[in-house]
Amino acid sequence: MLIILLLVTFLAVATAYQWKRCQKLPKGPTPIPIIGNFHQFIYHGLKLGSAVAVYHHFEKTYGKVFTLWMGPLPTVYIADYDVAHESHIKRSNIFSKRFATGTMNYIREGRGIIASNGEFWQEHRRFALTTLRNFGLGRNIMEEKIMEEYRYRIADFKKTNFKNGAIEVHAGSFFDLLVGSIINQLLISERFEQDDKEFDQIKTALAESLENFGIVDIFFPTAFLDSPLMSWRQKKIFKPFDFVYEVSKRNIAKRVAQVESRDHVIEDGGNDFVDAYILKIQKDKRDGVKSTFDYETMAIDVFDLWQAGQETTSTTLSWAFSCLLNYPNVVKKLRAELMKLTGGNRSIGLNDRPDTPYLNATCNEVQRIASILNVNLFRHIEEDTVIAGQPLSAGTAVTTQMSMLHTDEKVFKNSTEFDPERFIVNNNLEKTLIPFGIGKRSCLGESLARAELYLILSNLILDFDIEPVGSPPQMKTLNPFGLLRRPPVYNIRFKPVKL
Ligand code: HEM
Ligand SMILES: *[C@@H]1O[C@H](CO)[C@@H](O)[C@H](O)[C@H]1NC(C)=O
Repeated sequence: MLIILLLVTFLAVATAYQWKRCQKLPKGPTPIPIIGNFHQFIYHGLKLGSAVAVYHHFEKTYGKVFTLWMGPLPTVYIADYDVAHESHIKRSNIFSKRFATGTMNYIREGRGIIASNGEFWQEHRRFALTTLRNFGLGRNIMEEKIMEEYRYRIADFKKTNFKNGAIEVHAGSFFDLLVGSIINQLLISERFEQDDKEFDQIKTALAESLENFGIVDIFFPTAFLDSPLMSWRQKKIFKPFDFVYEVSKRNIAKRVAQVESRDHVIEDGGNDFVDAYILKIQKDKRDGVKSTFDYETMAIDVFDLWQAGQETTSTTLSWAFSCLLNYPNVVKKLRAELMKLTGGNRSIGLNDRPDTPYLNATCNEVQRIASILNVNLFRHIEEDTVIAGQPLSAGTAVTTQMSMLHTDEKVFKNSTEFDPERFIVNNNLEKTLIPFGIGKRSCLGESLARAELYLILSNLILDFDIEPVGSPPQMKTLNPFGLLRRPPVYNIRFKPVKL
């Protein structure tokens, strides 16, 4: 009897507490204590088939900004460009802190670039950006590095995978090796090879983790994840990250040893990110300043850049070619534009950008269709404020959901159609396309990623006819409820235009 009484009292208090908090949050479906809106999320998820469809469902009822309770945590979703701009740019002081408990902070513990905050984040983001810029981000050196890897990779697969007049590859592996090598060259001057066991292990590990990483996992607090109750899940999701972090640490230790033994001499600011970092550590030590740059934070920064710079771009390219295989007319138009410009006499370079409107539109449309984050990373609100005329209280996790913006039928009609032309017909559309996020925490690698997409996509189309192996891949994600929207898995044939 007493237990029932206690339970009823607890539920009454919890309900009242939640009701009170709801008054200080944007509208949303009514949550129940502890569970929040999970039950509604699961119900509509089963009915509608994807997280994005569920978000759109709630958007229809509650508007462009709404609240969903992930268990005891209120999370707010922005599905409108103007609100995103108003909050994340005009009031960036409130909307620029990363929400990073639990999974996000695994290994990182407030360090790195993705999940850190405050002065640490500012220092390390600035350092990474300056360093990558010094190594060519947004300049010709970057183009050379990307094209060198492109040519190497094509020549390599021509040797191993040439079948019936074409290079036949597993698209995902091909782009993984290419993109993985580009970022790895920037970070530590190393390329991955086809038979590289470690790269295979890293990729298999990350794929396993990403396939298992669900939306709810972002919200679990660290203590809960560390509990015996959750250890099975810990292993599934985190083991792979342990491995990637170990590799990052090992590579750094190797370089440091080489520097100490003078087998590696760092000259003129160094050759890569790790060199630059070592110089920074040495300089801070010499200057006697209190520094957050040491070998351990370097391993985490490298771990962050590697993860953020590899899977994202590779995934986007896999999406790109699954679209192109399904829309041969787009390929025809692209080829015509590129041939007119080069006569087939040279490769496409970044300087061609102003002269390739159709290619630019295609890159945009690829990023829109790919929308590789089902759920964008969250920001953490630390003071009470207002959003789109509604109250927003401290402690809330907020995000601009690009996956919703990019599938908004009012902006992108027939949003499931791959139609680059839409960006040419309507010049304003580009503004509302924000695959790299918005505001101070938006993607640090945007210009690198854009350069990779532009150069790899255009030169593949210029150099090869593309053919599916079997029927074209379905333009459908493997995991509609995952964090990263994984692309279809398929093989592709690149048939040289000139032999
Ligand atoms: C097509 C490829 C890519 C896409 C679509 C993409 C997208 C994103 C998005 C949506 C965010 C979160 C933004 C936010 O909170 O609003 C982000 C953050 C980040 N990205 Fe990318 N990204 C890509 C490639 C890259 C590359 C190549 C690098 C590394 C060189 C990189 C490094 C980062 C980092 C370090 C962050 C965290 C930034 C911070 O919290 O300050 N990304 N990216
Ligand atoms: C390509 O090279 C051919 C032969 O040298 C030349 O006639 C043609 O004008 C070139 N095309 C372009 C667009 O540069």
